[in-house]
Amino acid sequence: MTQLAGKHIVLGLSGGVACYKSAHLCRLLTKAGATVQVVMTGAAEQFITPVTMQALSGRTVYGSQWDAREPNNMPHINLSREADAMLIAPCSADFIARLVQGRADELLSLMCLARPMERIPLLLAPAMNREMWAHPATQRNLAQVQADGAQVLGVGVGDQACGETGDGRMLEPEEIMQELAAFFTPGHLAGRRLLITAGPTFEAIDPVRGITNHSSGKMGFAIARAAREAGAEVTLVAGPVHLATPRGVKRIDVQSARQMFDAVQRQADEADVFVATAAVADWRPASAAEQKLKKDGSGQVPALAFVENPDILAAVAQSPRAQSGALYCVGFAAESHDLLQHASAKRLRKKVPLLVGNIGPATFGQDDNALLLIDDQGSRELPRASKDELARQLVIELAHRLPAAR
Ligand code: CTP
Repeated sequence: MTQLAGKHIVLGLSGGVACYKSAHLCRLLTKAGATVQVVMTGAAEQFITPVTMQALSGRTVYGSQWDAREPNNMPHINLSREADAMLIAPCSADFIARLVQGRADELLSLMCLARPMERIPLLLAPAMNREMWAHPATQRNLAQVQADGAQVLGVGVGDQACGETGDGRMLEPEEIMQELAAFFTPGHLAGRRLLITAGPTFEAIDPVRGITNHSSGKMGFAIARAAREAGAEVTLVAGPVHLATPRGVKRIDVQSARQMFDAVQRQADEADVFVATAAVADWRPASAAEQKLKKDGSGQVPALAFVENPDILAAVAQSPRAQSGALYCVGFAAESHDLLQHASAKRLRKKVPLLVGNIGPATFGQDDNALLLIDDQGSRELPRASKDELARQLVIELAHRLPAAR
């Protein structure tokens, strides 16, 4: 997450079992190149020790506004001024109430109150029991704290430490990292709606067998994540892959090319950009057997007949909205050789304004890739980098090519 490299984050912990997750969050932040100043309330120290957070952040942890280690004895000023953002995780119901009231009788809420609001954003990752979360007092306080300029990152749903199940869990550290990255990403695609296909398709031969393509889906998922971080509304139509849904992205799971085609057709009218990264199977068995094909002992192999699958990208690119320029289409080409030549031909054949070529065998399943962008102006290489980094660069390239937002 290069967006966080060099950023200085004040990580505030208020009281809650979720403090144990903040240890991992602190680790993720430092691994991403951020420096982290941990500040803990007295209640947080009931759940996790400052020693742990000091070891993970590599910095002294602060917990009192009377801390004499600061030469001017003003930790609330000194610690907040150098931050790029203040993140309170976990943020308890009580802490939200304190923020609403502008309380200043302990260091963390004092720092929130004393921070220069126009320069230092305040992000809250709430964590509490579901009844506390649903209580009108908490909901009222959340609305107020947002009106006062804080950004609430939302909560997770699921099993809670108290044994109940529902809303109010703190987001997982990885999810908070995605929210932070989005926060620090310029909104190149703000207001744009992206539709993305990703992964392989699976074409059934019988209930237990099928044919598929090589594709981990990583590039498509990385583009979905980067586009969301850049402010887009993203729908991801995914073939069978083992990848977590990027935060804030709407995901539609499909198996076969025809299912992917149908899902894309249903969504395409709502999109401004269509990015086809999926490795769609070109052919499917003419008819899938309803029961498993059995060996009969004769050594005879079943004769399989194939039919061609619909070309999803070509169909969308020929739609009236794409033809009029209201829907910008981007194709991908996985080639094994002569990339520029094959990818240029594919761009013309599929009638798309932008085609992104890559050498398939050099990237299948890997975390990095190199891309060749081809449009009517010529070609441009995005040199080998992580798929996340390439996705961010592609999002910027895309933003430059889109007509100005209405
Ligand atoms: N594509 C698609 N539907 C298909 C086949 C391909 O939407 N049935 C899209 C892919 O998602 C990709 C682009 O078309 O964006 C090119 O895919 P690729 O498999 O490289 O091209 P093909 O058309 O299958 O050509 P070939 O196999 O001959 O290289």
